[in-house]
Amino acid sequence: MMDNSAVGFFDSGVGGLSVYSRFRALLPNENTCYLGDLKNMPYGSKTPEELVGFARKILDYYKKLGVKAVVIACNTSSAIAYDKIKNDYDFKIYPIIQSVAKAISACGYKRVGVFATPATVSSGAYKREIVKYSNHVEVLEQACPNWTCIVESGNIETEDSVADVESHLGEMMKFKPEKIILGCTHYPYLIPVLSRFAPENLFIDPALIFVNYIKSDMSACGLLNTSTQKGYEKFYVTAKPDEFKSNAKRFCELKELPSLIEL
Ligand code: DGL
Repeated sequence: MMDNSAVGFFDSGVGGLSVYSRFRALLPNENTCYLGDLKNMPYGSKTPEELVGFARKILDYYKKLGVKAVVIACNTSSAIAYDKIKNDYDFKIYPIIQSVAKAISACGYKRVGVFATPATVSSGAYKREIVKYSNHVEVLEQACPNWTCIVESGNIETEDSVADVESHLGEMMKFKPEKIILGCTHYPYLIPVLSRFAPENLFIDPALIFVNYIKSDMSACGLLNTSTQKGYEKFYVTAKPDEFKSNAKRFCELKELPSLIEL
């Protein structure tokens, strides 16, 4: 495997760009591909069988492209599909939840809230992974069923969207969390709204911890690209290329429309 092979990222839509953009900032010389599975968005309301099927199709596609690693920039897919597919590919696969839990538990918090999709919350993955490393922490996972679609619609600031965000946050605050993990990669797009009702430093966007973990693991595995040139970027979607390009803006300015592909 050449170290200049691309690193593939995927999510149901623009959410994973909150991870992808930080990865590009940290490792600008890597060649990267990003796939937004908009045809199947939102993942958070899908069954485990469906989620495993989506992940397999995407990883099969990346296998054909000859990537050296795939980043599951999606909490829902990491929670539900990762365990089922992790041994079926000969490239490295990085799931977000399992990669950040150790670092979060090492912070020594006693009460941690998690906002995530219904599927992630039903799986209990955040609690299970954090408690693995620290049993002194209480974790409350709360589902926010509308938030992914709010972000993908681009209507973050409407009265209904703001009311939905405020109501979930109000519910969570009863638990008195020291920190709240944004356990869906779409949710960092809502920080401007969340921070109207609570201090911004209450929220943990796991993306930064995640990309630092990926960098050190790729380095340990000899997977880093040694080229000194800026790596290429390729974007793919399974539907709605125009919407993807315009909603991507908060984290990524796309020069062209992403390629529309069928999986
Ligand atoms: N952004 C994804 C996640 O982190 C998927 C959200 C969805 O499609 O419901 O879970």
